[in-house]
Amino acid sequence: MVTKGRSVKNPLAAFDGQSLITPTAVNREVFPSGAPADERQLRIARDELTLILQVASQQIQADRSPDQIIDRLIRSLHESREKYRAVWPDLIPMVQDHPVAAYFHNDPFTRWSFEKPRGYSGDASLIDFIYGHPDIAADVERASPLGRTLYEYTRNAPSAVAVRERRDLLTRTVDETAAKVGPETEVLAVAAGHLREAETSRALREGGIKRWVALDQDPLSVGRTMRDFNGTPIDAMDGSVRGLLKNAYSLRQFDLIYAAGLYDYLADKVAVKLTQTCLSMLKPGGMFLFANFSTEVPDDGYMETMMNWTLLLRSQSEMWSIIEASLEGQPAEKNVFFGANRNIIYGTIRKP
Ligand SMILES: C[S@@+](CC[C@H](N)C(=O)[O-])C[C@H]1O[C@@H](n2cnc3c(N)ncnc32)[C@H](O)[C@@H]1O
Repeated sequence: MVTKGRSVKNPLAAFDGQSLITPTAVNREVFPSGAPADERQLRIARDELTLILQVASQQIQADRSPDQIIDRLIRSLHESREKYRAVWPDLIPMVQDHPVAAYFHNDPFTRWSFEKPRGYSGDASLIDFIYGHPDIAADVERASPLGRTLYEYTRNAPSAVAVRERRDLLTRTVDETAAKVGPETEVLAVAAGHLREAETSRALREGGIKRWVALDQDPLSVGRTMRDFNGTPIDAMDGSVRGLLKNAYSLRQFDLIYAAGLYDYLADKVAVKLTQTCLSMLKPGGMFLFANFSTEVPDDGYMETMMNWTLLLRSQSEMWSIIEASLEGQPAEKNVFFGANRNIIYGTIRKP
């Protein structure tokens, strides 16, 4: 069974790459509206949050270290989110509108996420801040000394550490597939972003891959991938989840298909449909891998407020639900596992 409360009536209309991924849209999925907010609980929560933000302001005025200030705020927002989950969406604007937010927006990574220069959440350049990629070095350089100190903290938060591990896991998975299959290996990355995992792929370097399709809905990211990997078997293409679901591209079959940084925006029904589509595009023995931020992310409250970046966090059982609903009883080798710090969770399905 797919988790209740997150299903959508028309899976193609939700987070489909045509309609942009906005925090409002994701919020609707993460915090489905049920009963009207409990006014009393909302008042208590607002008072507590006011206090949390006041303490941060006082710490700033007292010139406490930025590490200490942000560390405490991240913890407090996480606790408040847990405690006041039912009214949390009503609290997010309150944090964002508080004058103390300007302090945290000195961090170029937090600011990029909040301002969304590409018009949607989680664009590939935002992820480049996590990777510490040379492409965003100038933005970091331009930040104030305070901004750079905060960035050092945010880029080393557990969720960011997990994203770097995810990139390395993808590189390893592609290389292992190529080692097994040989030079005829064909790979598809869905929502590929800048395909940073390819930069260190040994198989790619040594001619072990025939075709590596990098599909993304953002033409700017596709252009950058084309430029960076010009003359390699990497084929960057403009394409969306919606296009895949409608079978709009003639992509043929792959040995490995993966999606990282995408399922966190997909409601369950779309996630299942996409998984089924990807399974139908696998060769016999081929593997599908998808990643999702887990429910154990400690900086969720900070991300949703200061970064205006809401994600659909999933538990182990929710990952299994997607796998089982996608397979509809068909046999396959399947697995769900956490990364080292449990902030990202992975699902794999191997076709017989
Ligand atoms: C968080 S980034 C992840 C990029 C890359 N996979 C990584 O791990 O670094 C998410 C990417 O998904 C792409 N994306 C979002 N919705 C999409 C959709 N419906 N179809 C195709 N790509 C999508 C965005 O353009 C963005 O490049």
